[in-house]
Amino acid sequence: MEICAIVLAAGKGSRMKSKHHKGTHKVCGKEMINILIDKLRASNVSDINLVVGEHKEEIINVTKDRGVSYSTQEEQLGTGHAVLCSQEFLKDKKGSVLIFACDTPLFKKESIISLIKTHESEKNAITFVTSFFEDPLSYGRIIRKNGEVSLIREAKDCTPEELLIKEVNTSIYCIDIDFLLNGLKKINNSNAQNEFYLTDLIEIGNKENVKIGTIQVENKEVIGVDSRKQLYYANKLLREEILDFHMNNGVTILDCESTYIDVDVKIGMDTIIYPNVHICGKSIIGEECEILPNTKIVDTQIGNNTKIESSVIYESKVGENTSVGPFAYLRPNSIIGDRVKVGDFVEIKNATIGNETKISHLSYVGDASVGENCNLGCGIVTVNYDGKKKHKTIIGDKSFVGCNVNLVAPVVVGENSYIAAGTTVTEKVDSNSLAIGRCRQTNIKNWVKK
Ligand code: UD1
Repeated sequence: MEICAIVLAAGKGSRMKSKHHKGTHKVCGKEMINILIDKLRASNVSDINLVVGEHKEEIINVTKDRGVSYSTQEEQLGTGHAVLCSQEFLKDKKGSVLIFACDTPLFKKESIISLIKTHESEKNAITFVTSFFEDPLSYGRIIRKNGEVSLIREAKDCTPEELLIKEVNTSIYCIDIDFLLNGLKKINNSNAQNEFYLTDLIEIGNKENVKIGTIQVENKEVIGVDSRKQLYYANKLLREEILDFHMNNGVTILDCESTYIDVDVKIGMDTIIYPNVHICGKSIIGEECEILPNTKIVDTQIGNNTKIESSVIYESKVGENTSVGPFAYLRPNSIIGDRVKVGDFVEIKNATIGNETKISHLSYVGDASVGENCNLGCGIVTVNYDGKKKHKTIIGDKSFVGCNVNLVAPVVVGENSYIAAGTTVTEKVDSNSLAIGRCRQTNIKNWVKK
């Protein structure tokens, strides 16, 4: 069966108390709206339409790389009206459409698939997801007669008895498109909020004797994020799920309380994560790595058997059997090879470091290409900025750069060369050469006594 999806994201989300759209708030490193879009894609739903209104530009900006289409709801007249705004998207489509609110980041891919399967196998016109809450607050209540769903009543329209019902609507539906388009015409706004409720479709469906089905999921899967407190709770729940996932895949996590791993991170087997580690964005960590305490890794790829200690790494690539830190800072586009040592208080930026090279202490390497098997001594600095432009330093394979050397870029050091400690290199150093550029030491005898 053909299946497409509509995500309702035109509402204000005013309880978030934010200048930003609710769907752009991140849960475990990813915007809620994108968590949903990615899950739909992973469930083989590729044609996705977002209904936008409030903060329209922001939502479009955040989702622009995800190949979705947009419909606009100028005035927020209710969820039924919001779906009506995507009529153009539904026109000429056959089969069924999934409908989601944009704020249920914990809903599982498996549940999306189970919703679609139930809908297909039971040949329903509407299948929707319900759950049970001890205290269902403002959720729409599921009114059943003899076990069958009769209607959904919004909390504000419920009688005191109906408010006691614990089964609620989660705003996740799979609906036959023909039925939906006809049903939407019959929805009115005579209710407590004067809104066009999508939920009225259930009563309409029952009147028309179409088949209506439900699936139930655990309530933690469908908590809607409407406030900062719920955002905190969603982060906590998803974080636990992510940590469980990695532990189930053979990753050791020594302290779940202080380990933060974003939703898209991948980690290889037998890697050990020590306390107070943040692994963010689209980072990929290899097998048998040790990510030691107080480390932050963002959008970075790390090879197998590598050790990172108390370091911060952004948008970089680190090879295999390499060690970084303690207290190293790899800024974007640092490409570090295999069996490399990047030691304490070393900062690297936009630089390639060849295999088996050592930069052990207190150095800055920016806008550089350092070959294989080099040794960069303590306190070397690539002087890459002349006040206006950045320039490149190139150091050939097997070179030895002594302590406290300044390499004033643009500059090239040929392979297998040797730079004496304390030298300021301003000119090209040929391969196999020694460069020394410092004043000869003068000793004046008895100067102190005189
Ligand atoms: C809705 C359901 C309710 C359910 C609850 C689950 C209706 C009438 N009620 O409640 O049964 O228990 O979700 O969270 O559907 N939106 C628009 N345009 C609008 C109004 C809303 O795009 O005019 C979007 C919002 O951005 C949000 C979603 O629809 O993503 C749900 O809206 P929200 O106001 O959170 O839900 P309720 O109406 O409270």
